[in-house]
Amino acid sequence: MNSKDFFTLANGVKIPAIGFGTWQIPSGNEAYNAVTAALKSGYRHIDTALAYGNEASVGQAIRDSGIDRKEIFVTSKLPAEVKNYALAHRYAEKTMKNIGLDYIDLYLIHAPWPWNDMGADYTKQNIEIWKVMEEFYEKGSSRSIGISNFNVSDIDAILETCRIRPMVDQIKFHIGHQQQEIREHCAMNEIVVEGYSPLATGNLLHNPAIAGIAKRYGKSIAQLSIRYVLQKGALPLPKSTHPEFIGQNIDVDFEIEEEDMKFLDGLKGAL
Ligand code: A2P
Repeated sequence: MNSKDFFTLANGVKIPAIGFGTWQIPSGNEAYNAVTAALKSGYRHIDTALAYGNEASVGQAIRDSGIDRKEIFVTSKLPAEVKNYALAHRYAEKTMKNIGLDYIDLYLIHAPWPWNDMGADYTKQNIEIWKVMEEFYEKGSSRSIGISNFNVSDIDAILETCRIRPMVDQIKFHIGHQQQEIREHCAMNEIVVEGYSPLATGNLLHNPAIAGIAKRYGKSIAQLSIRYVLQKGALPLPKSTHPEFIGQNIDVDFEIEEEDMKFLDGLKGAL
């Protein structure tokens, strides 16, 4: 899997193998410039969310880029706090208005629980909300639908009751944070795993063990960490606001040898 490659979702839609993450990039110039730099560097997959507050700037940068809309894959998310059917419809429409595009490519439930009630059981509500996702998909507002931060039991609750199966689970995934059980469960159910925070929001960048390996490949720690996610079969979503980092993070067409992958796997919990 290389940066120019695609993953194929269960419904046949192709999704570029590296996405540009925009979490924590403030709306306005910062988000606009970062997305513009990402598109210039060759990214064709941009990940945002209503909760990031930057959907409008992301949409503006995409519209102004001059790149054919069909070439860009755009993801957004229903806020984690919205667990009511009617409200979910309203928020989905709000995202469409913010982004200002005729359709998006992927729409996700941001989390199985509101952030201030993390880990609580919202199974019943998620089953209700999933119907909104299905309707959003069926009317063509999004070319695919999925979930984010869902664990195995959260996924199963949807799989047991849905008409249209989730095509993606976006989870936190990086060296030292394996999420093995969820990734295996997704693989069994034809759900593509996207990994957010592939650099552990920057925490991997000063790790001497990872630095040692990266140096042998002539790559930065960021590049090695992003490549690791790809070689584990997941789709990385690196975030940066610096054009040189943005460019570097998509330039990962090299191969980490099996022995090094095993070593990096072993860093589990050691970071
Ligand atoms: P910045 O946004 O200031 O450019 P993650 O993708 O895991 O969320 O990590 C994002 C963090 O890592 C941000 O602080 C970002 O900095 C930093 N970062 C992203 N890419 C690189 C890179 N290639 N080299 C160094 N730092 C990077």
